Amino acid sequence: MTAPSSAEPPQIVMSQIPLIEEALQSQIHSFQLPKDLEEATLYAVMNGGKRVRPALTMLCAEAVNGSEELAIQAAVAVELVHCFSLIHDDLPALDDDHLRRGLPTLHIKTNEAMAILAGDNLLTLAFLQIAHSSFDDHKKMLMSKELAESTKNMVVGQVYDTLGNLPSSLTPEDQVKLVHENKTGALIRCACVFGGMCGEQEKSHVEAITKFGTHIGLMFQIVDDLIDLHGCQEHVGKATRKDSEAGKLTYPSVLGAEESKNIIDHLKNEAERALEPLGTAADCLRSFNLWLAQRTR
Ligand code: IPE
Ligand code: IPE
Ligand code: MG
Ligand code: MG
Ligand code: MG
Repeated sequence: MTAPSSAEPPQIVMSQIPLIEEALQSQIHSFQLPKDLEEATLYAVMNGGKRVRPALTMLCAEAVNGSEELAIQAAVAVELVHCFSLIHDDLPALDDDHLRRGLPTLHIKTNEAMAILAGDNLLTLAFLQIAHSSFDDHKKMLMSKELAESTKNMVVGQVYDTLGNLPSSLTPEDQVKLVHENKTGALIRCACVFGGMCGEQEKSHVEAITKFGTHIGLMFQIVDDLIDLHGCQEHVGKATRKDSEAGKLTYPSVLGAEESKNIIDHLKNEAERALEPLGTAADCLRSFNLWLAQRTR
């Protein structure tokens, strides 16, 4: 399969975005938040994100012949947690960023108190979203556990990323892998697992989706590191060249840009291999995988 050359995701992913955005908007509205909190929430969610995680949930559901109606509900929950993580990631105490998705970050647009609280609330809304969904009670319990575990790992990754204190017994390469698998990989894998939960949960399919999500989750953050190094702010929609300035542990800083690209290539191939048991039902995931490896924003 040849890599798509466009800066945009494959058409099949682009075509899911209006559906995802409509669901996000109507769900946020259904939570009946006070006006200022709803405005802040909509500002931070409905602002041109790529929707990689919800799209993964949708495509993984398709790959296991799962229900689209369930998939969209699960997809919303994951994107709400992701948006919470971005709001807090941009705060002065963390990455201190002023631009996100091409717009002022929430704490710049409003204030730090609102950014902290809107983030807290989004995390809570994600679990309410699962509670109010049409999944059966057993699946709701499994999904809440999966999302809680992934969010805990994301926070652990953010602690390592921001405060350090990584296990000193690890090599620098294993340290940066630990940061990336946690801060970014965990939620991406969760997005994929959620898609798998929309189907019959056949063991080989669940394993395939979980492995796929693990590989692309790590790959996603290595690509993000390279985008920070080589991208321009206008195209990426956030400040670039900040990681080295902040002394962040990244793949290019530990292994160099060329070796980082080799690792991306390896993870892309492993992700492709993981999809084998799913046959042609996973073709959309295959083309998304290729795009995720070579995306420029
Ligand atoms: C940015 O994620 C944060 C990382 C984990 C690298 P995305 O690149 O998916 O950001 P949006 O959602 O498209 O803005
Ligand atoms: C983000 O990592 C991880 C999160 C949990 C949000 P980064 O700090 O590299 O993400 P960007 O570059 O700000 O989007
Ligand atoms: Mg960060
Ligand atoms: Mg950041
Ligand atoms: Mg980054």
